[in-house]
Amino acid sequence: TNSQRLLVVANRLPVSATRKGDASWQLEMSVGGLVSALLGITEFETRWIGWAGVNVTDEIGKKSLTKALADKRCVPVFLDEDLVNLYYNGYCNNILWPLFHYLGLPQEDRLATTRSFQSQFDAYKKANQLFADVVSEHYIEGDVIWCHDYHLMFLPKYLKERNNKMKVGWFLHTPFPSSEIQRTLPSQSELLRAVLVADLVGFHTYDYARHFVSACTRILGLEGTPDGVEDQGKLTRVAAFPIGIDPGRFIRAIQLPQIKEHIKELEERFAGRKVMLGVDRLDMIKGIPQKILAFEKFLEENPDWHDKVVLLQIAVPTRTDVPEYQKLTCQVHEIVGRINGRFGSLTTVPIHHLDRSLDFHGLCALYAITDVALITSLRDGMNLVSYEFVACQASKKGVLILSEFAGAAQSLGAGAILVNPWNITEVASSIGYALNMPAEEREKRHHHNFVHVTSHTSQEWAETFVSELNDTIVEAQLRI
Ligand code: UDP
Ligand code: G6P
Repeated sequence: TNSQRLLVVANRLPVSATRKGDASWQLEMSVGGLVSALLGITEFETRWIGWAGVNVTDEIGKKSLTKALADKRCVPVFLDEDLVNLYYNGYCNNILWPLFHYLGLPQEDRLATTRSFQSQFDAYKKANQLFADVVSEHYIEGDVIWCHDYHLMFLPKYLKERNNKMKVGWFLHTPFPSSEIQRTLPSQSELLRAVLVADLVGFHTYDYARHFVSACTRILGLEGTPDGVEDQGKLTRVAAFPIGIDPGRFIRAIQLPQIKEHIKELEERFAGRKVMLGVDRLDMIKGIPQKILAFEKFLEENPDWHDKVVLLQIAVPTRTDVPEYQKLTCQVHEIVGRINGRFGSLTTVPIHHLDRSLDFHGLCALYAITDVALITSLRDGMNLVSYEFVACQASKKGVLILSEFAGAAQSLGAGAILVNPWNITEVASSIGYALNMPAEEREKRHHHNFVHVTSHTSQEWAETFVSELNDTIVEAQLRI
């Protein structure tokens, strides 16, 4: 075990809380790639600082939740309802999230968003200050502070303002878009400068890192070097650190007797049909409508397959207070209903669409019985579902159809069938190709992916980032 203390700061804690009484709380695992990856880090003395996803206004509540979270090494940041609305629903998920995924501002209320921009931006900064307060309280000299994601772009600046000796890294779990997109954001210069205060800035892929550096050179007029961005002699190191999963957790899970039993049940349930699987948060970036339309096209063109294939789509509700997400839910339900009406029979439907999350074991069993996983993100930082699927396919050796716009396309590209999710003709024919693929080709492709997933783990990702951060600081001191 590495004795280095690591303070992981992310908007979302690995557990989310629901209140069950005055001083009683139920904690449940949070859903999302950030949490999944960070849970794979075990070799550090880690403390987590973040929001528990619940509004707590009374002292009894705050005290008891703090105590319940302490058992999980988590420390809560309390954000009131108005702040959550402006900071989380507004600036983070209605402005930054779509922008970083090349979706632009939400079409319909573009003007409303423009109008409320300043108050949301102010709230964003205020929330980042509240995170900095809690970090400062828990900081001990020598700690490494690792800030995560688009919610906390001001945190490096606010931390260093309080204590310049802090070792601060920042990692983005989403894509970083081309500077031409970034330029349209009113507050971009301030945002970039705040991030640059960090000692080390990390991204999933080399392309995202390059986009960030060119945003700093074009928008801020700073100098980009092979190592990062330089501002009056001060270097901020910028690099790519592709994330991974904890593959052992999945490989062990599918060997448990109760999961094997569950796998058998599922296989019997879908006997005679090939199983296709989608697992996504119900988010615009995941291209769920595009995926379903491509599946419809496949059914249209291949009547022989009608009762021989089923698409299981797990769509986990997410950010449900943001209007764009509500609209997406309605849209997806409508398309699924239409297609099931069109191609279903009295006893079967082609699409099973679930609006809920599964527990870890349920998810593993589904991954294991799947013939073809279908991931059609319009943009995606990495996409860990594709990694998890591969980890669970050691015996089945199913096919991964993967969007070329997911970060994972760069690592699993040679084993997966890469598609452009906007091109439903191409996706439909890839579905046919995948369903008919000979065993030999499947095995070869699976092997390629499996080697990658099992050799690029989240533990190594974290170790690489933290050691690079430590090195960067030593080098900076030598330069003075
Ligand atoms: N996930 C989960 N329960 C579910 C569905 C998904 O815990 O019912 C997890 C899944 O195992 C994966 C994460 O959510 O680790 C999704 O990560 P990904 O990187 O694919 O996308 P993100 O949600 O971060 O955009
Ligand atoms: C993505 C983001 C994470 C976020 C997760 C779930 O993976 O990169 O920062 O935690 O989605 O979204 P939520 O808004 O529920 O935290």
